[in-house]
Amino acid sequence: MKEGREALHKAALAYGTPVYVYEQQVIEAQCQKLQRHFPNVALRYAMKANSNPKILGIIRKQGIGVEAVSLGELALAKLVGFKTKDTSFTCASLTETELTTAAASGARIHLDSLTQLEVWGRKALGREVSLRLNQGIGAGHHAHVITGGPHSKFGITLDDIPEALQIADKYGITIVGIQQHIGSNVLDAGVFLRSVRVLLQTAKKFPNLIHIDFGGGLGIPYAPGETQLDLKRVAMEFKILTNAFKKSIGHEVSFAMEPGRFIVAESGSLLVSVVDQKNTSEHQFVGVNSGFNQLIRHAMYGSYHPIENLSRTRGHKASITVAGNVCESGDIFAVDRLMVRPELGDVLAIRNAGAYGFSMASNFNMHALPREILVSGAGRLKDISFVPSEYAC
Ligand code: LLP
Repeated sequence: MKEGREALHKAALAYGTPVYVYEQQVIEAQCQKLQRHFPNVALRYAMKANSNPKILGIIRKQGIGVEAVSLGELALAKLVGFKTKDTSFTCASLTETELTTAAASGARIHLDSLTQLEVWGRKALGREVSLRLNQGIGAGHHAHVITGGPHSKFGITLDDIPEALQIADKYGITIVGIQQHIGSNVLDAGVFLRSVRVLLQTAKKFPNLIHIDFGGGLGIPYAPGETQLDLKRVAMEFKILTNAFKKSIGHEVSFAMEPGRFIVAESGSLLVSVVDQKNTSEHQFVGVNSGFNQLIRHAMYGSYHPIENLSRTRGHKASITVAGNVCESGDIFAVDRLMVRPELGDVLAIRNAGAYGFSMASNFNMHALPREILVSGAGRLKDISFVPSEYAC
């Protein structure tokens, strides 16, 4: 939530609402922060967080690669100019055709299951392969985004590693890489580091390993009182652990991470206008001209997003429920939030909406997708609106 109010104001005036506004400088600063903390790690941006081509271009120019999860994402990443050597691909529940096409793209594929490994071998999709593992460690801001442990559909469990090695052996495939992703918006350095430590132990079960990918998940604080991830500690201990690992195996190995949210979340705001007000015995509702079809995080995970009134900072404070214009009662952006009472016509900035905002938007209720505006370093505004359906497949 770093954009100046002035730039947001300008964007609302020039383009109207609802509109997503992203600040280029924030994206670049976040990329550089990760590069400073993890100098020997190949960073691959998880493009599901925000796949606007202009944003992808900004991240690519910072020297960061990309992580894709569908053929549509792979195609878009290629179009934006990411090299296949800097691209990785992970996906559960792939059809054989999807897996074959992904393999042919030349990206690093992290196979998600024994079934995918069997298909890989049977169809002779490559002599080398990487596996996504579920080591039983999961974390994240909501059950829906915890991707390790017995309730997660992702990855090959540690119990299945012997069988994976057998399948690889049967087809003469070498397992050269392993990957994990424990979940999303991890703010606890300790959990992330534990998963790193355990993955490095598991790595010893694979004698030909040359790539280890620790996934994404690095979190950012959304709600007041949430503490920042201690990136310094993660970086320091990560370095010690990976250096010791390298020494112990005696051959070269490369490390990767797949941050999504960390790079883009704080760069973006969704600007909406107040169009209605009503009270019930329980809530003071303020209705806005957007809904969960444009930012689903509160409706889906109960996620907190800071809301700032760009039109007024002073006035009577009240406990306000900010509701959207979609025909469902769960279409709420904030419940009973203490704020200066918004008036009709006010523009509200829903902050920290740069990740999993527009990328999860839909046309539900036949509303158009919001426009997307980029604020460049000089405060210049540029319409970078994107129609994802033109690329989706
Ligand atoms: N790598 C893999 C394999 C992933 O599945 C994900 C995210 C990432 C990397 C990037 O995770 P990040 O660094 O962004 O936490 N829609 C949810 C988040 C879903 C994340 C799914 N996977 C939300 O709005 O919180």
